[in-house]
Amino acid sequence: MSESRVGAGAGTPVIELRGVSKAFGEGDGAVRAVDDVSLTVRAGEIFGVIGYSGAGKSTLVRLVNALETATAGQVLVEGADLTALPERRLRGVRARIGMIFQQFNLLTSRTVAGNVAYPLRVARWPREKRAARVAELLDFVGLADKAKAYPRQLSGGQKQRVGIARALATSPTILLADEATSALDPETTRDVLGLLRRVNAELGITIVVITHEMDVVRSICDRVAVMEQGRVVELGDVYDVFAAPQADAAQRFVGTALHDRPSPEALARLRERHPGRLVTVGVREGASTGTDLFRLLREHEVDGAVVYGGISEVGDRPFGSLTVELDAPDERIAAFLAALRERADVVDLGTAERPLDDPRAWRPAAGPAAPEPGDEPGDPYGAARDDVVRGNLRNFGGA
Ligand SMILES: Nc1ncnc2c1ncn2[C@@H]1O[C@H](COP(=O)(O)OP(=O)(O)OP(=O)(O)O)[C@@H](O)[C@H]1O
Ligand SMILES: [Mg+2]
Repeated sequence: MSESRVGAGAGTPVIELRGVSKAFGEGDGAVRAVDDVSLTVRAGEIFGVIGYSGAGKSTLVRLVNALETATAGQVLVEGADLTALPERRLRGVRARIGMIFQQFNLLTSRTVAGNVAYPLRVARWPREKRAARVAELLDFVGLADKAKAYPRQLSGGQKQRVGIARALATSPTILLADEATSALDPETTRDVLGLLRRVNAELGITIVVITHEMDVVRSICDRVAVMEQGRVVELGDVYDVFAAPQADAAQRFVGTALHDRPSPEALARLRERHPGRLVTVGVREGASTGTDLFRLLREHEVDGAVVYGGISEVGDRPFGSLTVELDAPDERIAAFLAALRERADVVDLGTAERPLDDPRAWRPAAGPAAPEPGDEPGDPYGAARDDVVRGNLRNFGGA
Protein backbone atom coordinates (compact mmCIF):
# COMPACT_ATOMS: atom_id res chain seq x y z
CA MET A 1 0.00 0.00 0.00
CA SER A 2 1.44 3.35 -0.99
CA GLU A 3 2.28 6.10 1.49
CA SER A 4 -0.70 8.34 1.05
CA ARG A 5 -3.15 5.44 1.32
CA VAL A 6 -1.82 4.22 4.63
CA GLY A 7 -3.32 7.17 6.43
CA ALA A 8 -6.38 7.29 4.23
CA GLY A 9 -9.46 7.65 6.34
CA ALA A 10 -7.71 9.78 8.90
CA GLY A 11 -7.99 12.86 6.67
CA THR A 12 -10.28 15.81 7.10
CA PRO A 13 -13.76 15.58 5.58
CA VAL A 14 -13.87 16.76 1.95
CA ILE A 15 -17.41 15.67 1.16
CA GLU A 16 -20.14 15.53 3.78
CA LEU A 17 -23.73 14.54 3.17
CA ARG A 18 -26.07 15.23 6.06
CA GLY A 19 -29.52 13.72 5.82
CA VAL A 20 -29.60 14.28 2.07
CA SER A 21 -32.65 13.38 0.00
CA LYS A 22 -33.45 13.95 -3.64
CA ALA A 23 -36.93 13.32 -4.99
CA PHE A 24 -37.95 13.51 -8.63
CA GLY A 25 -41.57 14.40 -9.32
CA GLU A 26 -44.23 15.06 -6.74
CA GLY A 27 -47.00 13.35 -4.79
CA ASP A 28 -47.69 9.67 -5.40
CA GLY A 29 -45.53 9.52 -8.51
CA ALA A 30 -42.44 10.91 -6.78
CA VAL A 31 -39.23 8.85 -6.93
CA ARG A 32 -36.92 9.17 -3.95
CA ALA A 33 -33.68 8.64 -5.83
CA VAL A 34 -31.62 9.51 -2.73
CA ASP A 35 -33.28 8.96 0.62
CA ASP A 36 -31.87 10.43 3.83
CA VAL A 37 -28.20 9.70 3.14
CA SER A 38 -25.49 10.78 5.57
CA LEU A 39 -21.84 10.02 4.89
CA THR A 40 -18.40 11.60 4.98
CA VAL A 41 -15.61 11.19 2.44
CA ARG A 42 -12.21 12.07 3.90
CA ALA A 43 -9.20 13.69 2.27
CA GLY A 44 -6.95 11.21 0.48
CA GLU A 45 -9.23 8.20 0.49
CA ILE A 46 -10.77 6.22 -2.33
CA PHE A 47 -14.41 5.90 -1.39
CA GLY A 48 -16.64 3.41 -3.19
CA VAL A 49 -20.40 3.65 -3.69
CA ILE A 50 -21.87 0.37 -4.89
CA GLY A 51 -25.43 -0.53 -5.73
CA TYR A 52 -27.64 -2.13 -8.36
CA SER A 53 -29.13 -0.17 -11.24
CA GLY A 54 -31.50 2.51 -10.00
CA ALA A 55 -30.09 2.54 -6.45
CA GLY A 56 -29.41 6.28 -6.69
CA LYS A 57 -25.64 6.29 -7.18
CA SER A 58 -25.48 8.71 -10.08
CA THR A 59 -27.97 11.02 -8.42
CA LEU A 60 -25.72 11.01 -5.36
CA VAL A 61 -22.66 12.13 -7.35
CA ARG A 62 -24.70 14.71 -9.19
CA LEU A 63 -25.62 16.17 -5.81
CA VAL A 64 -21.93 16.36 -4.92
CA ASN A 65 -21.01 18.34 -8.03
CA ALA A 66 -24.17 20.41 -7.75
CA LEU A 67 -25.70 19.24 -11.01
CA GLU A 68 -28.75 18.40 -8.88
CA THR A 69 -30.05 20.24 -5.85
CA ALA A 70 -31.02 18.31 -2.75
CA THR A 71 -34.68 18.20 -1.76
CA ALA A 72 -33.62 17.97 1.88
CA GLY A 73 -30.42 17.94 3.90
CA GLN A 74 -27.00 19.48 3.36
CA VAL A 75 -24.19 18.73 0.91
CA LEU A 76 -20.81 20.09 1.99
CA VAL A 77 -17.77 20.07 -0.30
CA GLU A 78 -14.55 21.19 1.35
CA GLY A 79 -16.65 22.82 4.02
CA ALA A 80 -18.88 24.83 1.66
CA ASP A 81 -22.60 24.06 1.90
CA LEU A 82 -23.70 23.64 -1.72
CA THR A 83 -27.35 23.86 -0.77
CA ALA A 84 -26.77 27.45 0.39
CA LEU A 85 -24.40 28.74 -2.32
CA PRO A 86 -25.45 30.96 -5.24
CA GLU A 87 -24.82 29.58 -8.76
CA ARG A 88 -21.77 31.82 -9.26
CA ARG A 89 -20.05 30.29 -6.23
CA LEU A 90 -21.07 26.76 -7.27
CA ARG A 91 -18.94 27.16 -10.39
CA GLY A 92 -15.91 27.64 -8.16
CA VAL A 93 -16.73 24.47 -6.23
CA ARG A 94 -17.24 22.48 -9.45
CA ALA A 95 -13.80 23.54 -10.65
CA ARG A 96 -12.37 21.65 -7.66
CA ILE A 97 -14.11 18.44 -8.80
CA GLY A 98 -13.09 16.32 -11.79
CA MET A 99 -15.50 13.81 -13.27
CA ILE A 100 -15.12 10.73 -15.47
CA PHE A 101 -17.91 8.69 -17.05
CA GLN A 102 -18.75 5.24 -18.33
CA GLN A 103 -19.11 6.47 -21.92
CA PHE A 104 -16.01 8.70 -21.67
CA ASN A 105 -17.91 11.73 -23.07
CA LEU A 106 -15.03 12.86 -25.28
CA LEU A 107 -15.46 15.48 -28.01
CA THR A 108 -15.25 13.43 -31.21
CA SER A 109 -14.22 16.37 -33.39
CA ARG A 110 -11.19 17.21 -31.25
CA THR A 111 -7.88 15.43 -30.92
CA VAL A 112 -6.74 13.83 -27.69
CA ALA A 113 -4.72 16.96 -26.89
CA GLY A 114 -7.73 19.10 -27.79
CA ASN A 115 -9.96 17.17 -25.42
CA VAL A 116 -7.52 17.49 -22.53
CA ALA A 117 -6.99 21.19 -23.30
CA TYR A 118 -10.72 21.88 -23.39
CA PRO A 119 -11.28 22.57 -19.66
CA LEU A 120 -8.15 24.75 -19.69
CA ARG A 121 -9.60 26.85 -22.54
CA VAL A 122 -12.82 27.21 -20.61
CA ALA A 123 -10.78 28.34 -17.60
CA ARG A 124 -8.98 30.82 -19.92
CA TRP A 125 -5.47 29.46 -19.55
CA PRO A 126 -2.99 31.12 -21.98
CA ARG A 127 -2.06 28.97 -24.98
CA GLU A 128 1.59 28.23 -24.01
CA LYS A 129 0.69 27.19 -20.48
CA ARG A 130 -2.07 24.99 -21.92
CA ALA A 131 0.30 23.10 -24.21
CA ALA A 132 2.72 22.39 -21.38
CA ARG A 133 -0.04 21.22 -19.05
CA VAL A 134 -1.56 18.96 -21.73
CA ALA A 135 1.83 17.37 -22.42
CA GLU A 136 2.35 16.78 -18.71
CA LEU A 137 -1.10 15.18 -18.32
CA LEU A 138 -0.77 12.94 -21.38
CA ASP A 139 2.57 11.80 -20.06
CA PHE A 140 1.02 10.98 -16.69
CA VAL A 141 -1.71 8.81 -18.26
CA GLY A 142 0.73 7.18 -20.71
CA LEU A 143 -0.67 8.67 -23.91
CA ALA A 144 2.08 11.11 -24.93
CA ASP A 145 2.24 9.45 -28.36
CA LYS A 146 -1.50 9.84 -28.99
CA ALA A 147 -1.77 13.62 -28.65
CA LYS A 148 -2.80 14.08 -32.28
CA ALA A 149 -5.10 11.06 -32.52
CA TYR A 150 -8.90 11.38 -32.53
CA PRO A 151 -11.10 9.53 -30.02
CA ARG A 152 -12.41 7.14 -32.72
CA GLN A 153 -8.82 5.92 -33.23
CA LEU A 154 -8.48 4.89 -29.57
CA SER A 155 -9.40 1.77 -27.61
CA GLY A 156 -11.84 2.04 -24.72
CA GLY A 157 -9.06 2.01 -22.16
CA GLN A 158 -7.20 4.75 -24.02
CA LYS A 159 -10.38 6.83 -24.23
CA GLN A 160 -10.83 6.56 -20.49
CA ARG A 161 -7.19 7.63 -19.98
CA VAL A 162 -8.00 10.74 -22.01
CA GLY A 163 -11.08 11.21 -19.83
CA ILE A 164 -8.91 11.01 -16.73
CA ALA A 165 -6.31 13.43 -18.13
CA ARG A 166 -9.10 15.87 -18.98
CA ALA A 167 -10.63 15.54 -15.52
CA LEU A 168 -7.26 16.29 -13.93
CA ALA A 169 -6.45 19.27 -16.16
CA THR A 170 -7.43 22.00 -13.75
CA SER A 171 -5.91 20.22 -10.72
CA PRO A 172 -9.09 19.24 -8.86
CA THR A 173 -8.92 17.98 -5.29
CA ILE A 174 -11.76 15.49 -5.84
CA LEU A 175 -12.33 13.05 -8.68
CA LEU A 176 -15.77 11.50 -9.18
CA ALA A 177 -15.77 8.33 -11.29
CA ASP A 178 -19.26 7.18 -12.31
CA GLU A 179 -19.00 3.59 -13.63
CA ALA A 180 -15.68 4.58 -15.22
CA THR A 181 -14.70 0.99 -15.97
CA SER A 182 -18.12 -0.52 -16.71
CA ALA A 183 -17.63 -0.37 -20.48
CA LEU A 184 -14.18 -1.97 -20.32
CA ASP A 185 -12.98 -5.58 -20.39
CA PRO A 186 -11.41 -7.00 -17.21
CA GLU A 187 -7.81 -6.41 -18.20
CA THR A 188 -8.39 -2.84 -19.36
CA THR A 189 -10.39 -2.31 -16.16
CA ARG A 190 -7.31 -3.32 -14.14
CA ASP A 191 -5.17 -0.83 -16.11
CA VAL A 192 -7.59 2.03 -15.55
CA LEU A 193 -7.99 1.16 -11.85
CA GLY A 194 -4.20 1.14 -11.57
CA LEU A 195 -4.16 4.62 -13.04
CA LEU A 196 -6.81 5.80 -10.57
CA ARG A 197 -4.67 4.44 -7.74
CA ARG A 198 -1.76 6.53 -9.03
CA VAL A 199 -4.00 9.60 -9.24
CA ASN A 200 -4.82 9.05 -5.58
CA ALA A 201 -1.36 8.11 -4.32
CA GLU A 202 0.84 10.43 -6.39
CA LEU A 203 -1.42 13.45 -6.71
CA GLY A 204 -3.22 13.06 -3.38
CA ILE A 205 -6.63 13.41 -5.02
CA THR A 206 -9.66 12.09 -3.12
CA ILE A 207 -11.64 9.74 -5.36
CA VAL A 208 -15.29 8.66 -5.22
CA VAL A 209 -15.81 5.51 -7.27
CA ILE A 210 -19.37 4.68 -8.32
CA THR A 211 -19.76 1.09 -9.44
CA HIS A 212 -21.93 -1.99 -9.49
CA GLU A 213 -18.87 -4.27 -9.44
CA MET A 214 -17.57 -5.43 -6.08
CA ASP A 215 -14.25 -6.35 -7.74
CA VAL A 216 -13.66 -2.66 -8.39
CA VAL A 217 -14.35 -1.87 -4.73
CA ARG A 218 -12.12 -4.69 -3.60
CA SER A 219 -9.17 -3.67 -5.70
CA ILE A 220 -8.98 0.08 -5.07
CA CYS A 221 -11.36 1.38 -2.40
CA ASP A 222 -10.54 2.12 1.23
CA ARG A 223 -14.17 2.40 2.35
CA VAL A 224 -17.47 1.60 0.72
CA ALA A 225 -21.11 2.57 1.01
CA VAL A 226 -23.68 0.08 -0.26
CA MET A 227 -26.81 1.75 -1.66
CA GLU A 228 -30.22 0.25 -2.15
CA GLN A 229 -33.37 2.17 -3.10
CA GLY A 230 -31.78 5.52 -2.40
CA ARG A 231 -30.49 4.55 1.03
CA VAL A 232 -27.07 3.65 2.34
CA VAL A 233 -27.64 0.19 3.82
CA GLU A 234 -24.02 -0.48 4.80
CA LEU A 235 -20.91 1.65 5.20
CA GLY A 236 -17.46 0.66 6.39
CA ASP A 237 -13.85 -0.22 5.67
CA VAL A 238 -13.76 -2.44 2.62
CA TYR A 239 -11.92 -5.20 4.47
CA ASP A 240 -14.53 -5.22 7.24
CA VAL A 241 -17.41 -5.28 4.78
CA PHE A 242 -15.82 -8.24 2.99
CA ALA A 243 -15.14 -10.01 6.29
CA ALA A 244 -18.63 -9.55 7.73
CA PRO A 245 -21.18 -8.03 5.36
CA GLN A 246 -24.35 -7.27 7.31
CA ALA A 247 -26.97 -6.01 4.87
CA ASP A 248 -28.46 -8.42 2.40
CA ALA A 249 -27.27 -6.37 -0.58
CA ALA A 250 -23.75 -6.19 0.89
CA GLN A 251 -23.67 -9.96 1.28
CA ARG A 252 -24.72 -10.44 -2.32
CA PHE A 253 -22.07 -8.04 -3.61
CA VAL A 254 -19.35 -9.70 -1.55
CA GLY A 255 -20.50 -13.06 -2.91
CA THR A 256 -20.04 -11.86 -6.49
CA ALA A 257 -16.44 -10.85 -5.86
CA LEU A 258 -15.28 -13.84 -3.83
CA HIS A 259 -15.55 -17.42 -4.90
CA ASP A 260 -13.71 -18.84 -1.94
CA ARG A 261 -16.74 -20.46 -0.27
CA PRO A 262 -18.72 -23.16 -2.03
CA SER A 263 -22.19 -22.13 -3.19
CA PRO A 264 -25.00 -24.48 -2.08
CA GLU A 265 -24.76 -26.21 -5.48
CA ALA A 266 -20.99 -26.61 -5.30
CA LEU A 267 -21.34 -27.91 -1.75
CA ALA A 268 -23.81 -30.57 -2.89
CA ARG A 269 -21.27 -31.75 -5.49
CA LEU A 270 -18.47 -31.66 -2.91
CA ARG A 271 -20.43 -33.88 -0.54
CA GLU A 272 -20.67 -36.56 -3.21
CA ARG A 273 -16.92 -36.70 -3.51
CA HIS A 274 -16.14 -35.96 0.14
CA PRO A 275 -18.78 -37.51 2.38
CA GLY A 276 -16.81 -36.84 5.61
CA ARG A 277 -16.92 -33.84 7.95
CA LEU A 278 -16.43 -30.57 6.07
CA VAL A 279 -15.54 -27.23 7.62
CA THR A 280 -14.83 -23.86 6.02
CA VAL A 281 -12.08 -21.85 7.70
CA GLY A 282 -11.62 -18.11 7.13
CA VAL A 283 -8.13 -16.90 6.30
CA ARG A 284 -7.42 -13.32 7.33
CA GLU A 285 -4.51 -11.00 7.80
CA GLY A 286 -2.67 -11.63 11.06
CA ALA A 287 -5.25 -13.48 13.11
CA SER A 288 -6.05 -16.60 11.17
CA THR A 289 -3.70 -18.06 8.63
CA GLY A 290 -3.32 -21.32 6.79
CA THR A 291 -0.38 -22.07 9.09
CA ASP A 292 -2.67 -22.18 12.15
CA LEU A 293 -4.97 -24.61 10.41
CA PHE A 294 -2.24 -27.07 9.52
CA ARG A 295 -0.46 -26.75 12.86
CA LEU A 296 -3.68 -27.54 14.75
CA LEU A 297 -4.46 -30.47 12.46
CA ARG A 298 -1.06 -31.93 13.36
CA GLU A 299 -1.41 -31.21 17.08
CA HIS A 300 -4.83 -32.84 17.30
CA GLU A 301 -3.91 -35.70 14.99
CA VAL A 302 -6.71 -34.97 12.58
CA ASP A 303 -6.25 -35.69 8.88
CA GLY A 304 -7.35 -32.76 6.75
CA ALA A 305 -7.61 -32.40 2.99
CA VAL A 306 -8.33 -29.06 1.34
CA VAL A 307 -11.25 -29.65 -1.02
CA TYR A 308 -12.34 -26.09 -1.94
CA GLY A 309 -11.35 -22.47 -1.41
CA GLY A 310 -8.97 -19.72 -2.29
CA ILE A 311 -6.97 -16.92 -0.78
CA SER A 312 -6.64 -13.63 -2.59
CA GLU A 313 -6.46 -9.97 -1.60
CA VAL A 314 -8.93 -7.36 -0.46
CA GLY A 315 -7.22 -4.02 -0.76
CA ASP A 316 -3.66 -5.20 -0.30
CA ARG A 317 -4.42 -7.65 2.49
CA PRO A 318 -4.87 -11.44 2.36
CA PHE A 319 -8.43 -12.69 2.47
CA GLY A 320 -10.19 -15.93 1.71
CA SER A 321 -11.18 -19.31 3.06
CA LEU A 322 -10.40 -22.99 2.82
CA THR A 323 -12.91 -25.82 2.98
CA VAL A 324 -11.35 -28.90 4.52
CA GLU A 325 -12.51 -32.49 4.85
CA LEU A 326 -11.60 -33.81 8.30
CA ASP A 327 -10.91 -37.41 9.14
CA ALA A 328 -10.51 -38.54 12.77
CA PRO A 329 -12.64 -39.87 15.64
CA ASP A 330 -15.39 -37.42 16.70
CA GLU A 331 -13.70 -36.38 19.98
CA ARG A 332 -10.46 -35.44 18.24
CA ILE A 333 -12.37 -33.43 15.63
CA ALA A 334 -14.30 -31.66 18.40
CA ALA A 335 -11.09 -30.74 20.25
CA PHE A 336 -9.47 -29.59 17.01
CA LEU A 337 -12.46 -27.40 16.09
CA ALA A 338 -12.57 -25.87 19.58
CA ALA A 339 -8.91 -24.88 19.27
CA LEU A 340 -9.33 -23.62 15.71
CA ARG A 341 -12.33 -21.48 16.67
CA GLU A 342 -10.12 -19.53 19.05
CA ARG A 343 -8.09 -18.40 16.02
CA ALA A 344 -10.40 -18.43 13.05
CA ASP A 345 -13.85 -18.03 11.63
CA VAL A 346 -15.03 -21.64 11.25
CA VAL A 347 -18.25 -22.78 9.61
CA ASP A 348 -19.18 -26.39 10.21
CA LEU A 349 -20.76 -27.94 7.12
CA GLY A 350 -21.43 -31.33 8.73
CA THR A 351 -21.16 -34.56 6.76
CA ALA A 352 -22.92 -35.90 3.68
CA GLU A 353 -25.15 -37.90 6.02
CA ARG A 354 -25.86 -35.02 8.42
CA PRO A 355 -25.30 -31.87 6.34
CA LEU A 356 -25.29 -28.30 7.65
CA ASP A 357 -25.68 -25.21 5.48
CA ASP A 358 -23.15 -22.45 5.22
CA PRO A 359 -25.18 -19.43 6.40
CA ARG A 360 -22.78 -17.18 4.50
CA ALA A 361 -22.60 -19.06 1.23
CA TRP A 362 -23.34 -16.92 -1.76
CA ARG A 363 -26.89 -17.22 -3.00
CA PRO A 364 -27.71 -15.44 -6.23
CA ALA A 365 -30.94 -13.84 -5.01
CA ALA A 366 -31.98 -12.59 -1.63
CA GLY A 367 -34.41 -14.93 0.02
CA PRO A 368 -36.10 -14.56 3.38
CA ALA A 369 -33.71 -14.49 6.33
CA ALA A 370 -32.27 -17.92 7.03
CA PRO A 371 -33.03 -19.42 10.44
CA GLU A 372 -30.22 -19.18 12.96
CA PRO A 373 -28.28 -22.39 12.38
CA GLY A 374 -27.81 -23.07 16.11
CA ASP A 375 -31.59 -22.91 16.55
CA GLU A 376 -32.38 -25.62 14.05
CA PRO A 377 -33.96 -28.57 15.78
CA GLY A 378 -31.68 -31.55 15.53
CA ASP A 379 -28.57 -29.54 14.67
CA PRO A 380 -26.27 -32.51 15.14
CA TYR A 381 -23.26 -30.52 16.15
CA GLY A 382 -25.09 -28.04 18.35
CA ALA A 383 -22.18 -25.64 18.13
CA ALA A 384 -23.08 -21.97 18.25
CA ARG A 385 -21.72 -21.50 14.78
CA ASP A 386 -23.42 -18.21 14.24
CA ASP A 387 -21.76 -16.93 17.35
CA VAL A 388 -18.43 -18.11 16.00
CA VAL A 389 -18.99 -16.39 12.69
CA ARG A 390 -19.79 -13.08 14.34
CA GLY A 391 -17.66 -13.31 17.47
CA ASN A 392 -14.41 -14.40 15.94
CA LEU A 393 -14.54 -11.74 13.29
CA ARG A 394 -13.73 -9.29 16.05
CA ASN A 395 -10.31 -10.91 16.17
CA PHE A 396 -9.78 -10.01 12.55
CA GLY A 397 -10.71 -6.40 13.11
CA GLY A 398 -14.13 -7.23 11.64
CA ALA A 399 -17.63 -6.84 13.06
N1 LIG B 1 -33.95 13.28 -13.81
C1 LIG B 1 -34.70 12.29 -13.31
N2 LIG B 1 -36.03 12.35 -13.32
C2 LIG B 1 -36.78 11.37 -12.78
N3 LIG B 1 -36.28 10.28 -12.18
C3 LIG B 1 -34.95 10.15 -12.13
C4 LIG B 1 -34.09 11.14 -12.69
N4 LIG B 1 -32.81 10.75 -12.48
C5 LIG B 1 -32.88 9.57 -11.84
N5 LIG B 1 -34.16 9.22 -11.61
C6 LIG B 1 -34.61 7.99 -10.92
O1 LIG B 1 -33.94 7.92 -9.68
C7 LIG B 1 -33.56 6.60 -9.38
C8 LIG B 1 -32.07 6.51 -9.19
O2 LIG B 1 -31.42 6.77 -10.42
P1 LIG B 1 -29.83 6.83 -10.57
O3 LIG B 1 -29.54 7.18 -11.98
O4 LIG B 1 -29.27 7.70 -9.52
O5 LIG B 1 -29.44 5.32 -10.26
P2 LIG B 1 -28.04 4.57 -10.43
O6 LIG B 1 -27.79 3.89 -9.14
O7 LIG B 1 -27.00 5.51 -10.92
O8 LIG B 1 -28.37 3.48 -11.53
P3 LIG B 1 -27.44 2.88 -12.72
O9 LIG B 1 -26.57 1.85 -12.07
O10 LIG B 1 -28.42 2.26 -13.65
O11 LIG B 1 -26.66 4.00 -13.31
C9 LIG B 1 -34.08 5.74 -10.53
O12 LIG B 1 -35.31 5.21 -10.15
C10 LIG B 1 -34.23 6.73 -11.65
O13 LIG B 1 -35.22 6.33 -12.54
MG1 LIG C 1 -25.84 5.60 -12.64
